[in-house]
Amino acid sequence: MRPSVFITRKLPEKMVAPLREKFEVRMWDSDVSAVRRSILKEEISQVDALWTVVSDCIDSELLEAAEQLKVIVNMGVGFNNIDTGAAKEKGIIVTNTPDVLTETTADLAFALLLATARRLNRAERELRHGGWLSWTPMGFTGMDVGGKTLGIIGMGRIGEAVMRRARGFNMRVLYHNRSQKEEVEQKYGCEYVTLDQLLERADHVVILAPFTEETAGMIGQRELGLMKKTATLISMSRGGIVDEEALYEALNDEIIWGAGLDVWEKEPVSKHHPLLTLPNVTALPHIGSATVETREAMMRMNAEAIVDVLEGREPNNRVV
Ligand code: DGY
Repeated sequence: MRPSVFITRKLPEKMVAPLREKFEVRMWDSDVSAVRRSILKEEISQVDALWTVVSDCIDSELLEAAEQLKVIVNMGVGFNNIDTGAAKEKGIIVTNTPDVLTETTADLAFALLLATARRLNRAERELRHGGWLSWTPMGFTGMDVGGKTLGIIGMGRIGEAVMRRARGFNMRVLYHNRSQKEEVEQKYGCEYVTLDQLLERADHVVILAPFTEETAGMIGQRELGLMKKTATLISMSRGGIVDEEALYEALNDEIIWGAGLDVWEKEPVSKHHPLLTLPNVTALPHIGSATVETREAMMRMNAEAIVDVLEGREPNNRVV
């Protein structure tokens, strides 16, 4: 019997073909709707490898069912969707896809920052709907990005890549992170500050921290109240870090200038979400790593990890 693999979303066949040569591969037949929990549980009880995406919630109850599962490969750098403690207890390896998405995600963070500060979505919407009546002195005005102060919350690989872009825009960079990173400071001349100092001093704030017990709800009413009235908040890592109700109030009451959100507390976000009614929100559907090249690189990395583990080698990018 060849080892078996279950893939929770329909992936491009060319990415899966190398696995089919070696293993029994079953794949959920939709790339849009998630696999039903009952089916996922049954598969987990039978397979040797599980290939997940970041919207799959692999909790301890599902992992209980695993009998011969050796590895879970997650298509994303974040892995808060997997109970890694429970996986570890059962001796199941978990891998993720760092590095290959760093530059792509940093590009989107910067695009979202520029779009939010300059309110591009609003300008485009008005133009499309006949709302561009003339060149007006103060019409469609936004906030500058170049030459301003950027605050980065979470100084990992993507944080560094965003900082490199910020240097090209002649920005001063403040950062807050679980630990101070002196080598990064020396290399880029950025300044380590407390979260409150960052929020008070930055003109634009980008959230890139992982979702953990400490970062859950980290940006709430009090924190938003510390920010400048002209500041933007860009949320790029996981939605649960920002309290969306508090953010709605802050944007509606013009406590801050704008927010750019690529990630949400609950995804996919409903079209009736209150934040989507606000003109000072730029909203995206979790597309930080979404380029053809990067998504293919992530899939190659996942497939390689499956092959490594099922052939008895230590995989790259092991998180537990
Ligand atoms: C990640 O890598 O964690 C992203 O959120 C998915 O692209």
